[in-house]
Amino acid sequence: MIKPIIWQKTKLKILDQRRIPLAVDYIICSTCREVAECIGNLSVRGAPAIGSAAAFGLVLGAQELKGFPKEGFNHAFREKASNMLQARPTAVNLSWAVERMLRKYESIKEKDLGELTGGLEEEALTIYKEDIVGNKKIGQIGSSLIPEGAQILTHCNAGALATAGYGTALGVVRWAVGQGKEIHVYVDETRPVLQGARLTAWEMKQEEIPYTLITDNMAGMLMQKGKIDLVIVGADRIAQNGDTANKIGTYSLAVLAKYHDIPFYVAAPSSTFDLTLTSGEEIPIEERDPREVTHVFEQRITPEGCSVFNPSFDVTPAGLISAIITEKGIIENPQKENILSVMQIN
Ligand code: MRU
Repeated sequence: MIKPIIWQKTKLKILDQRRIPLAVDYIICSTCREVAECIGNLSVRGAPAIGSAAAFGLVLGAQELKGFPKEGFNHAFREKASNMLQARPTAVNLSWAVERMLRKYESIKEKDLGELTGGLEEEALTIYKEDIVGNKKIGQIGSSLIPEGAQILTHCNAGALATAGYGTALGVVRWAVGQGKEIHVYVDETRPVLQGARLTAWEMKQEEIPYTLITDNMAGMLMQKGKIDLVIVGADRIAQNGDTANKIGTYSLAVLAKYHDIPFYVAAPSSTFDLTLTSGEEIPIEERDPREVTHVFEQRITPEGCSVFNPSFDVTPAGLISAIITEKGIIENPQKENILSVMQIN
């Protein structure tokens, strides 16, 4: 199984996803700042993978403070945590993981540095391992929604690369394939960063899962021709009412799916829910460098100075989502009561 991050006690190895499939190289991070940079520049991307990487980044952050005067330690560590939070705004898994690490830190901050970093490392490893276990559960639960012979459309990359391992949306596909179901995956290329063409296609190829790459603007035509049985995507942040932020273009697919009466599923772990937000309108949407749109692999494809709008995510209203698949169960007709009940929060 592909490992997007590998923890090595004093280093975090990050698979450089910007280079896949042309090269499979790891970046070695030994500081918290280097991890935050890898999150910001998309070397590591995908909501759960960002959360796990950030957690290990904070372990490195604590290790970096070896020899730091006790009085200043607390401030310096919290500053690293707050810098980490700035790395990317939309995927809530980042703040979820950082806050979890800070709670752990708070509970052991009086201990000596060895015990403190050991405790933080344990917490980061737990976040990492829980994500893999959760993804497999999502796969197992979600595969009940995948009929034999299904033709599935997916967007962006919500696979092993986007998580600690196994994947959410692609975890469901993996599980169903493992059950012997014959499945065909249509992979949206996912402009502008091409996570579908570069990453999902690569994952499908590695595992010999039959797939066909399409450009984003072909999805409607395929649906119209009866070639898509269901759509399944991941998520970056899900509000209390089920509104879901995911890679730009997801909303358009959900509208198309509704029009063609095709089930539209979101697969996400509970760490992707932000129950502090009443609706998707409150989800911060990252806008990225216009060069992602004006250039393809460093080659400019537009007139110089071309004006660009480059939101990295959009919000799909809950009403367009048939169900959200989580490790705790399937949330049919996602809305507040149903979400809280599956999340076991009253
Ligand atoms: O900009 P990215 O590549 O981090 O965006 C990733 C996505 O939108 C994924 O679909 C989402 O994070 C879910 S990953 C399991």
